[in-house]
Amino acid sequence: MADELAKAVAALRNAKTVAVLSGAGASAESGVPTFRASDGLWEGHRIEDVATPSGFKRDPALVWKFYNARRANVKTVQPNAGHYALAAMERHWKEFTVVTQNVDGLHQAAGSVRVHEIHGSLRRTRCTQCGIIRDRRLDVLAELPMCVDCGAMLRPDIVWFHEMLPPDVWQHAERAAETCDVLLVVGTSAVVYPAASLIPIAKQQDRASPATVIECNLTQTEASAMADIGLYGPSGESLPKLCAELGIPI
Ligand code: APR
Repeated sequence: MADELAKAVAALRNAKTVAVLSGAGASAESGVPTFRASDGLWEGHRIEDVATPSGFKRDPALVWKFYNARRANVKTVQPNAGHYALAAMERHWKEFTVVTQNVDGLHQAAGSVRVHEIHGSLRRTRCTQCGIIRDRRLDVLAELPMCVDCGAMLRPDIVWFHEMLPPDVWQHAERAAETCDVLLVVGTSAVVYPAASLIPIAKQQDRASPATVIECNLTQTEASAMADIGLYGPSGESLPKLCAELGIPI
């Protein structure tokens, strides 16, 4: 770990442009549950039931119950030391971008500004009919919230399985991966695509100099084979350690 930390510090010292790909593990120390429990359930639900368009069509009340519970949970949690370290890094580098699969808003709560939420946000609703997107913050919503503009049913503005990512947000994410000198891959199992494809994009061999990929995770993952450096342990510890070594105040 000491060697890997030194290598990570050296790579970051030389980097002009840094990108982050974060996943559920980045928020784990804040008390937000991660997704891939060994029983294949997601807080007691099958993913197909609560995170697919067909699940929503079948039982919108169940899906809203699930998301209203997640919204209520996120209201009670705070960013952790890892989120604050990334926000401090953003203040240090001119070009620093967070691409997150998380929908909890904790990067922004910690002070990160350039954040691309490729899987949407728990705060927002989208009308199933007129498509209007509204930031509802974490206010309590009805059991089956309806659109004030057209009266149709709202859905969470979350990207579910079998759905496309919002093209503009994805474009920013790809650009961040294509142009970074270092990609920090934090707390993701790297099994969900296209998010995980940002790692090979950063390492594309036809670039003049491929990015250095640093994985920060509790364990090895699908990303590990592509990572140049691995910092294995809680990101709430490894990211502040990186800041300390780099002399970045948090
Ligand atoms: N520090 C670092 N990593 C951690 C920590 C921690 N404290 N706790 C857990 N992890 C790691 C786990 O080892 C795991 O590799 O975080 C990862 C969490 O993986 P997933 O639960 O699969 O979450 P994620 O990769 O974000 O999932 C991607 O899947 O269902 C969808 O849309 C959902 O955005 C989500 C996507």
